[in-house]
Amino acid sequence: MPIALDRMFGHIDRFIEITFGCTIDSLDTQAIIASDDLFERLCRVVSLTEKRGLKQVEILLDHPMVKQDKALHRIFEIVHVDEPDHFLPYDKWLAENARRMPNAWERGIDRLIHSELLFIKLPLLFLWFRAPRLTEWRDAGESNPRPTPRSLATA
Ligand SMILES: [Fe+2]
Repeated sequence: MPIALDRMFGHIDRFIEITFGCTIDSLDTQAIIASDDLFERLCRVVSLTEKRGLKQVEILLDHPMVKQDKALHRIFEIVHVDEPDHFLPYDKWLAENARRMPNAWERGIDRLIHSELLFIKLPLLFLWFRAPRLTEWRDAGESNPRPTPRSLATA
């Protein structure tokens, strides 16, 4: 099973904590929906995080180890196509509502969180031999019916 990592390893979790001053789970979503100022801040956090993810996928797609694994490469190709849909709606809302795009401070936080993960936290995982493992998959309690293959789906 994968290592049981908590929110300290989540890019958006850290971003929310730094920019909103609370954990992602304690974010007051009703207050954010009710306030364009809070919503615009959340849009920028999501957009920066998703664009960071897209950059990482592009790096992985170009990595020799990923390139030699056809199945893994195909998975990342699909993620690469899908990923812009994760930030374009937020950028669109910002543009349509004449809200600013991320500034230097927000881009700096994004870089800091990424650097922290890349150069401190992820290397430490390789030294943490007794790291706790998940006992079940994250979606174990959820109802996720298997999609019907297109060849069997009725029109
Ligand atoms: Fe994404």
